[in-house]
Amino acid sequence: MDGINFLLDDRGLRIHPSTILSVGTYAVVIRQNDVAVKMPIVHSFDGVMSIHKNRAKMQAEQLVYRQLMPDPTATLEGVVPCVRMWSYTIELQYMSQGTLGVMLQTRGISPIPLQRRWIRQLATGLRNIHARRVLHNDLALRNILLDGSLNAMITDFGVSSIVPLGLDMMLYRDRHGCSMWTDLVQLGSIIYHIVTGVPSRVTIYPRHDLYAVLPPRNIWPDVRSLWAGQIIEDCWNAGALGPAGAQAILNRLDHLT
Ligand SMILES: Nc1ncnc2c1ncn2[C@@H]1O[C@H](COP(=O)(O)OP(=O)(O)O)[C@@H](O)[C@H]1O
Ligand SMILES: [Mg+2]
Repeated sequence: MDGINFLLDDRGLRIHPSTILSVGTYAVVIRQNDVAVKMPIVHSFDGVMSIHKNRAKMQAEQLVYRQLMPDPTATLEGVVPCVRMWSYTIELQYMSQGTLGVMLQTRGISPIPLQRRWIRQLATGLRNIHARRVLHNDLALRNILLDGSLNAMITDFGVSSIVPLGLDMMLYRDRHGCSMWTDLVQLGSIIYHIVTGVPSRVTIYPRHDLYAVLPPRNIWPDVRSLWAGQIIEDCWNAGALGPAGAQAILNRLDHLT
């Protein structure tokens, strides 16, 4: 069956397996030269319902990109540049060094100047995302990509939400419990992983359901001896960064030697 049940692209043409970078739950990402093309999963035998569901997810992600980059020719610092969007497809700059997760797995702990650069770039990205009233909601190493110069950028707005105009960003929680504070908790866990080389167990899903909550203090590892320990703890401790949110991480970084 595998041989004839192909993945199809947005034009209905068979996707060549050698071009596939990833097949996720609703999207397939393929490489075309210097562009990564994210499009809905469509198999040659899929029914209308499944195609419709995956297309709707891609449309929702396109909407988030429009919110993030209202001027399609502009980029947002710290976020993987979107080259163009058409139909149900999003074309992104190809990030040749892959995910931060794979990088940490293969190279182990990086020198502190590189750790510092990544933290700065990710905090800048998240600050810019929040400034555009978007919650990322899935900050994880697999959704951080590295370009050829090892610059880290945030990607994958597949489960993001847009904070409605008129609502207070600092108080807003979406229907899954996500907020700017849960994004910051996840960023704290990424920073912990960058600095220590191992994942932290601090999660916004401690109850193993799909409703995000802020983690209780008693599950935090002791981070006081880490060079970025104060930043990590402030990310996990909702509110400690204050109204500036991710911008406060940048301010703290400037004062850390
Ligand atoms: N711009 C890109 N450059 C290189 N690889 C990419 C790019 N975008 C996505 N990928 C690869 O595809 C994977 C899945 O992309 P992502 O947008 O996270 O989709 P999903 O919603 O399926 O998680 C990433 O973890 C990465 O390995
Ligand atoms: Mg992803």
